[in-house]
Amino acid sequence: MLLPLIILALSARPPAAATATAMQPSENCLRRCGDVEIPYPFGVGSGCHLETGDWTFVLSCNRSADGRLRVYNYEIEVVDVSVRRGQLRIYSVINPWCYNGSTSAMNGQSNWWYDMSITNFRINDALNRFTVVGCNSLAYILSLNGTAGADRYMTGCMAMCPGVGRLENGSCAGVGCCQTAIPGGLNGYQVSFDEKFNTSAIAGFSRCSYAVLVEASAFDFRASYVTTDEFMVANGGQLPLVLDWAIGNKTCEEAKRNASAYACVSANSECVDSKYGRGRGYLCNCSAGYDGNPYLLDGCQDINECDESRFRYPCSVPGTCINTPGGFTCTCPDKTTGNAYNGTCGDNKSQLGWKIAIGISSGVVILIVTASCVYMIHAKRRMAKIKREHFRQHGGLLLFEEMKSRQGLSFTLFTQEELEQATNRFDERNVIGKGGNGTVYRGTIAKDNGAVVAIKRCRLATERQKKEFGKEMLILSQINHRNIVKLYGCCLEVEVPMLVYKYIPNGTLYRLIHGGGVASARRIPFAARVGIAHQAAEALAYLHSWASPPIIHGDVKTSNILLDEDYTAKVSDFGASTLAPTDAAQFVTFVQGTCGYLDPEYMRTCRLTDKSDVYSFGVVLLELLTCRKALNLEELEEEKYLSSQFLLAVGEDRLGEILDPQIKGEQSMEVLEQVAELAKQCLEISGEKRPSMREVAEELDRLRKLSLHPWGQPNSGELVALLGGSPSIAADSDQIELSTSTRNISFSDTAYIGIRSPR
Ligand SMILES: *[C@@H]1O[C@H](CO)[C@@H](O)[C@H](O)[C@H]1NC(C)=O
Ligand SMILES: *[C@@H]1O[C@H](CO)[C@@H](O)[C@H](O)[C@H]1NC(C)=O
Ligand SMILES: *[C@@H]1O[C@H](CO)[C@@H](O)[C@H](O)[C@H]1NC(C)=O
Ligand SMILES: *[C@@H]1O[C@H](CO)[C@@H](O)[C@H](O)[C@H]1NC(C)=O
Ligand SMILES: *[C@@H]1O[C@H](CO)[C@@H](O)[C@H](O)[C@H]1NC(C)=O
Ligand SMILES: *[C@@H]1O[C@H](CO)[C@@H](O)[C@H](O)[C@H]1NC(C)=O
Ligand SMILES: *[C@@H]1O[C@H](CO)[C@@H](O)[C@H](O)[C@H]1NC(C)=O
Ligand SMILES: *[C@@H]1O[C@H](CO)[C@@H](O)[C@H](O)[C@H]1NC(C)=O
Ligand SMILES: *[C@@H]1O[C@H](CO)[C@@H](O)[C@H](O)[C@H]1NC(C)=O
Repeated sequence: MLLPLIILALSARPPAAATATAMQPSENCLRRCGDVEIPYPFGVGSGCHLETGDWTFVLSCNRSADGRLRVYNYEIEVVDVSVRRGQLRIYSVINPWCYNGSTSAMNGQSNWWYDMSITNFRINDALNRFTVVGCNSLAYILSLNGTAGADRYMTGCMAMCPGVGRLENGSCAGVGCCQTAIPGGLNGYQVSFDEKFNTSAIAGFSRCSYAVLVEASAFDFRASYVTTDEFMVANGGQLPLVLDWAIGNKTCEEAKRNASAYACVSANSECVDSKYGRGRGYLCNCSAGYDGNPYLLDGCQDINECDESRFRYPCSVPGTCINTPGGFTCTCPDKTTGNAYNGTCGDNKSQLGWKIAIGISSGVVILIVTASCVYMIHAKRRMAKIKREHFRQHGGLLLFEEMKSRQGLSFTLFTQEELEQATNRFDERNVIGKGGNGTVYRGTIAKDNGAVVAIKRCRLATERQKKEFGKEMLILSQINHRNIVKLYGCCLEVEVPMLVYKYIPNGTLYRLIHGGGVASARRIPFAARVGIAHQAAEALAYLHSWASPPIIHGDVKTSNILLDEDYTAKVSDFGASTLAPTDAAQFVTFVQGTCGYLDPEYMRTCRLTDKSDVYSFGVVLLELLTCRKALNLEELEEEKYLSSQFLLAVGEDRLGEILDPQIKGEQSMEVLEQVAELAKQCLEISGEKRPSMREVAEELDRLRKLSLHPWGQPNSGELVALLGGSPSIAADSDQIELSTSTRNISFSDTAYIGIRSPR
């Protein structure tokens, strides 16, 4: 194998050192050779280049064999020189390695190197790539110094042709061509072909392989490079390679110490250390705003930034750019002010215009603010007016007058704000019950030392209810019975009045009977049941007799009987309650009540009487006796209603079947039959035949005493202990409310209203 060496200037001596005076080239120096510009510090001939003690800036201009002028740095041909970037492009020779059919051997150099240690050049690693072209070739690039495999750098790449059809123009990715990056700072390198990979077997279509270190952007792979000798021919056997140059081996700081050797001689120039590190020299650069050759006296010239033919016009207002040394200003013309850099210039008149515009706009703003204030005050007044109107509509004035005249009336007119505050703006989390005709919230009244109350917010009210509201409130507020939930006050200044009640903590009778859980109805002793029934009956009897015309509850049911701490019954929810009508015009047209409890006579006549409450109470008695619900939708037609179920059973002498088994074992049948008989009387179809509530209460009182065990009725404390658990209030979801005005049956959980702690 041939191993020819290309050794550059091994024995060459640097040119003689120049004079110690300020180094400036002669005017007569050659500055162009052929197509190549030769800027100082490069130069041809003594006195024309910067003397650094090496060959870096020494060029020659020779006429080559083809008659063209070419520039050489010693033996390397120069493509071009850049002072601004500190770069020199040279021609890098393409090395072919070809199979010679007649000698059956590989021709060319399998191994060679470039050594640039006589100059201060570094091979730019960002712009150059080691490139191999061929169909069966592996080539390496190595740094010159050191031991291979140890401190000596080495890389390579392999180009194969799995199929000629897969060769692609422009794609140097392993098929017919490969490229690899090189490390920074090389100033010489060795290349070698791996002789195990040769083209002897494929000489028919790809005789030669090539390796070259080349500027990546100057190389464009062609498929024909591997099948023909086009690669060599088209490029003249060479391609550009980018070198970085620098001055000497000192840093800027060190170089400045010897003014006669310091290369950055131009005013407005600065020194930049070589990017390859300490000991690799420095470069000169013109300062910002200047351009030119910093190695020449006055080489750095001010840039005219205002020259539109060279730069984008730097000011925002045309004709305002004024060039300054190292910069520029954008100055608004005479009699104008503004920002000509990135704004506008205006004459003083238009400044005035601006001021007027600003004045006008601030005036408009003030106007808008004032208008909004006026509007808000107006809206507030209107709001207050609406509140007053609601208050008046709901009979609030009457109520207010009455309250003033009757001293000692414990009834409060709450404001909307007070109730909003009490319920945290009617927060969902404060809901303790939801029903067809309203929602009940638990609330805390701040002005009453945090008294806990129940606030019922009705969904809607009929016109009549609205009109009579104040009057009714006045009457209800005076009701004071131990078995009726105390009404503390109301709020009339909203569209549908809100009611404020004493808060009753132990839930409803409905829940106690049907609710399951710890407080299972099956555990309520018969005596306690009769006791609760008696208390509820007393409450209703009181309502019916207290006023004339009587107050009719209108919606008696187990979920409207609340239980307080010691399980005393408290009748509640006068949502449907009404003063008995005194003339035909006042007949109730909006039937409110609950399916399963509704008086059939009332359904027929639309006339609500105190006997309607008696009928409903009969159903409550049945629930206590049987632990069955007033309405069971799952049952057969005639069995749906507990009342009809019961009457059917009594008629067929099957009372025993329908009674709650627990009380059967606990109480003599005789007493049970008497309670059942009372219930039966309450459920008479004709209201006239039903007993009055007073009679019912008295009979229940008698039965209660009868039902007492020999050792006495469990006192309330025992009942609390017996029922135990943590009482909670929950909506009863399986009640059905019926409205005859719409004939719509809707599921609802109308249950109870609550309440407020004793003052
Ligand atoms: C720097 O260059 C000078 C002259 O070329 C040489 O004498 C000197 O040894 C070099 N110094 C270093 C640190 O390479
Ligand atoms: C260029 O010419 C000079 C003198 O004329 C000679 O010394 C040098 O070797 C030549 N360089 C090349 C690359 O031909
Ligand atoms: C092959 O080698 C011979 C002998 O060195 C040489 O004369 C001939 O030109 C070579 N052929 C090619 C195509 O390089
Ligand atoms: C590196 O190469 C240069 C040029 O061939 C040589 O002068 C120098 O001694 C070498 N250094 C080492 C450590 O091999
Ligand atoms: C590659 O480009 C040449 C022209 O430059 C074209 O003739 C040839 O068909 C192209 N080959 C492929 C494989 O694209
Ligand atoms: C080509 O490579 C093969 C396998 O590595 C080897 O046997 C052969 O001698 C080589 N031919 C030439 C001409 O170097
Ligand atoms: C300063 O530079 C001049 C010119 O290169 C050189 O002759 C002289 O010895 C240098 N002086 C010092 C102190 O390095
Ligand atoms: C030279 O100066 C220009 C502008 O002042 C700057 O963009 C450039 O990066 C500088 N060159 C170096 C090598 O610092
Ligand atoms: C406009 O120019 C002024 C003055 O040069 C400068 O302070 C400001 O940041 C510039 N604004 C923009 C958006 O460029």
